[in-house]
Amino acid sequence: MEARKIIEGKTKIVWEYFDGLVRIESKDDITAGDGERRDVIADKGRLATTTTVNCFKVLKAAGIPTHFENVHSEREFIARKVDMIPREIVVRRIATGSYLKRQPEVAEGTILPYVVEFFAKDDARHDPLIIYDFVSERTLYFDPKKPLKDGLIEERSMRAEESKALLVAVPILRKLALKSFKKLEQTWNKFNVTLVDLKIECGWVAGNPSRLIPAHIVVADVIDNDSWRIWPGGDKAQMKDKQVYRDSKNRTPAELGKIKENYAWVAEQTGKFLD
Ligand SMILES: Nc1ncnc2c1ncn2[C@@H]1O[C@H](COP(=O)(O)OP(=O)(O)OP(=O)(O)O)[C@@H](O)[C@H]1O
Ligand SMILES: [Mg+2]
Repeated sequence: MEARKIIEGKTKIVWEYFDGLVRIESKDDITAGDGERRDVIADKGRLATTTTVNCFKVLKAAGIPTHFENVHSEREFIARKVDMIPREIVVRRIATGSYLKRQPEVAEGTILPYVVEFFAKDDARHDPLIIYDFVSERTLYFDPKKPLKDGLIEERSMRAEESKALLVAVPILRKLALKSFKKLEQTWNKFNVTLVDLKIECGWVAGNPSRLIPAHIVVADVIDNDSWRIWPGGDKAQMKDKQVYRDSKNRTPAELGKIKENYAWVAEQTGKFLD
């Protein structure tokens, strides 16, 4: 019997498995700019799954809770089914990319004290940055491409916030993101590669009655070469992550071939993470 497709996104398909489990398949698609730019790179799905599995194994060995269960095939892994928390959590160690737009006074390359940022997964509003101010009990939404001081879009009272579970999740998400970042940073360091930043997504383990219990939140989705910036030798010019695709002008076969080589290199390196 054909399995039921739970959801198909731009780069992955989630299939129903059994007993609260799902099968997550990576496609060969590479996309950027909310899907405005899209290409297919043969074998990318396999390389992405290899990388994700290698990363989740490292996190698991470090005692960080994730949805990962085991490898299923070359391009699929088995995970616990979760209800996704509609936030992207980003940790930044070196100032680069969109961070410079929000903090124009910070020079590119500045070492940051593990800055954690939250973004709403909200395509219509271009994934605004959210600041949770637990002192004034307000949630502030900002345009992610403008200097913070000019970028306020909306301000909400936390008391009016519909989801208490989400507010309870915030400190846990921050902790999971920091732990994941530091573990992967330390691991990449052994290969003389700098982890510049990292994006994770988390979920509430499905079927659990209470979302207010910290242990019911796990790192979910994937951690692959689209989730971070990595600079071998700390040199931006050597970058191996998806940024090369975002920066690519014409996406010629030669450029896409180079990008595929990078994905293959990352899959191979991460295969040595637990050696
Ligand atoms: N353990 C899980 N259980 C259920 N759904 C999951 C799990 N892990 C990831 N997902 C979901 O699988 C989908 C992966 O698809 P993909 O990342 O390709 O989507 P996308 O087009 O990038 O859209 P999105 O902005 O939602 O990520 C996402 O919707 C994600 O929320
Ligand atoms: Mg996604």
